[in-house]
Amino acid sequence: MEDAVAVQRYANNRKIWLNLRDVFPHPYTLENAQAFLSYVTQENPQTAFAIATPAEAIGCIGLTLGGDVHRKAAELGYWLGEPYWGRGIMSEVVGRFTRRAFEVFDLQRIFAEPFANNRASVRVLEKAGFVCEGRLRASIFKDGQLQDSFLYACVRDNAARP
Ligand SMILES: CC(C)(COP(=O)(O)OP(=O)(O)OC[C@H]1O[C@@H](n2cnc3c(N)ncnc32)[C@H](O)[C@@H]1OP(=O)(O)O)[C@@H](O)C(=O)NCCC(=O)NCCS
Repeated sequence: MEDAVAVQRYANNRKIWLNLRDVFPHPYTLENAQAFLSYVTQENPQTAFAIATPAEAIGCIGLTLGGDVHRKAAELGYWLGEPYWGRGIMSEVVGRFTRRAFEVFDLQRIFAEPFANNRASVRVLEKAGFVCEGRLRASIFKDGQLQDSFLYACVRDNAARP
């Protein structure tokens, strides 16, 4: 819970919100950060993790585990505080996190759905060994605009090695 102040500060950014689902609030309040942390720290198994410097949390990465026939698959989501963009941090984090997730969870597939104009996230996924499985046309209605998204997935044993 002591990460709440940092999470609020970095998450409260329209540029981040524009690339995420609307369940991610904007503006992002301290109460939103506390509610999020309270939820994810009580999850079992725990699927959401901080990206952190030695001093503070600067971002988040997590999985949404599938159910029913999708129980061997999970969706990956992540964001990083804007002051830290463009330093290769998320490229490294997604690669490492994906490899670890295949070790820890009983998963065969990890996928992500970046919006089509999110070139940085597409590059992050490609460098981590994710493969584009298609363009989902008109799948996203965000900020009053319809847009496409990409479906990227990594299957077990295909996660990129460092
Ligand atoms: C997407 C995001 C996670 C990228 O994190 P990052 O640590 O800045 O990414 P990296 O520094 O590892 O850069 C990844 C690649 O994207 C490229 N890139 C970065 N910004 C870019 C931009 N605006 N346009 C095109 N490419 C860009 C980098 O050059 C790099 O590619 P390269 O190695 O081929 O040069 C970060 O910008 C973010 O949090 N965005 C908002 C939330 C979000 O989009 N989450 C993902 C939802 S699917």
